[in-house]
Amino acid sequence: MATEARPFHLVVLGASGFTGQFVAQEVAREQVVPEQSPRLPWAVAGRSREKLQRVLERAALKLGRPTLPSEVGIIICDITNPASLDEMAKQAAVVLNCVGPYRFYGEPVVKACIENGTSCIDICGEPQAL
Ligand SMILES: NC(=O)c1ccc[n+]([C@@H]2O[C@H](COP(=O)([O-])OP(=O)(O)OC[C@H]3O[C@@H](n4cnc5c(N)ncnc54)[C@H](OP(=O)(O)O)[C@@H]3O)[C@@H](O)[C@H]2O)c1
Repeated sequence: MATEARPFHLVVLGASGFTGQFVAQEVAREQVVPEQSPRLPWAVAGRSREKLQRVLERAALKLGRPTLPSEVGIIICDITNPASLDEMAKQAAVVLNCVGPYRFYGEPVVKACIENGTSCIDICGEPQAL
């Protein structure tokens, strides 16, 4: 599998959610000091471009890094649209899924990742989904 050819090393899916926004912010923070953490291309993904844009703008303000929104990709996809999940998964080496509840929304993301050779991690805290 040639993940090197994929445009994004990491995609944070559900970055507009309560938890996802903090995850996106922490990924951005790790990228602030490139000497300590080599800068890797990454993106946020979800169903609302406006919300994702706002998450990046808030992170830019918080981290004092105005160029952040132009450095991070935005991918539009919806859990209810399998083709959009495939397109998202194809562009990433790793998908970090923050869309919950996982017992309702988790499976299509795992399926898209398996079918497209993408690594998938999540922040699931639901015993019902394990
Ligand atoms: N492990 C832990 O300690 C821990 C702690 C907190 C949360 N969690 C887990 O994180 C999950 C999310 O919690 P949260 O509080 O962050 O939830 P939330 O604020 O409701 O966020 C849900 C996210 O899912 C997105 N989403 C919902 N339906 C979608 C769809 N059809 N297509 C694409 N995106 C969709 C939402 O997008 P929109 O913004 O467009 O609506 C939003 O980004 C929980 O279910 C829980 O399992 C775990």
